[in-house]
Amino acid sequence: MQMTSELGDAFATVSEMSTPSRSLSEVRKVILSAHTPISVEEKVQFYDNWALDYEQDVDVLEYRAPRLAADCLASVIPTDRASQLILDVACGTGLVAAELSRHGFRFFHGVDGSEQMMELARQKNLYQELKKCMLGQEPLLLPAEQYDAVIIVGALSEGQVPCSVVPEICCMTKPGGIICLTTRCNASNLQYKAHLDEVLREMEHKGLWEQVKVLEVADWEKTTSEHDATLGSEFISGVVYLYRKSSEYQEHS
Ligand SMILES: C[S@@+](CC[C@H](N)C(=O)[O-])C[C@H]1O[C@@H](n2cnc3c(N)ncnc32)[C@H](O)[C@@H]1O
Repeated sequence: MQMTSELGDAFATVSEMSTPSRSLSEVRKVILSAHTPISVEEKVQFYDNWALDYEQDVDVLEYRAPRLAADCLASVIPTDRASQLILDVACGTGLVAAELSRHGFRFFHGVDGSEQMMELARQKNLYQELKKCMLGQEPLLLPAEQYDAVIIVGALSEGQVPCSVVPEICCMTKPGGIICLTTRCNASNLQYKAHLDEVLREMEHKGLWEQVKVLEVADWEKTTSEHDATLGSEFISGVVYLYRKSSEYQEHS
């Protein structure tokens, strides 16, 4: 695919650099290249190209969301974890399943829009099923009410997974099951977060689910945008939400 020159340069940086570890400013440049308005195809290509460097780059960013979300989910499922079936939405390279497996979870299905990200997740031998799906663009074709818990980490933000996918995610969860979601609270994501909060509240009003826990974390990950950096903090904040799906709610009723 032919890229526009500015984006092309940024993408070239992603694919050509396979150094053991990039500097924080190099990682920022990579991430910011995906924050420009790009087509869905370019977005998929961005993640495909980033896949091999993803884990070392998020290490540089001190990205803690997979661990924080996994700890949070585990805290409300104290027993019987080895029998729970978890759907990891926007699973990427599988960091969330790796964290959940530390807590004794064993059964994972994953969904992601990037085949290359999922290839690395596959190599972790933690997922029994992995499915390619560009959420928001195509329906998530999985059976309703199949999962004990559904988790989406690091993907509910501007330019990634739209808020409209949240009811779909809830639909895949068993009645009484847990849904774990994360988003960032930095300035450039505040509009998205406000919309997400509205969707979450509306679903609670409709009786689809009830809020179980909200964990706000100041040191979510290192700042990537110049705008956030000018606000003076080295880190941006983020939030983990836990919901329990109503046991009475009937899908398609
Ligand atoms: C920042 S990574 C997070 C991956 C993983 N959950 C983690 O925390 O390490 C975002 C992931 O979301 C996927 N993604 C972004 N937008 C998507 C969409 N609309 N549909 C499906 N996957 C998407 C990307 O391919 C990428 O793997």
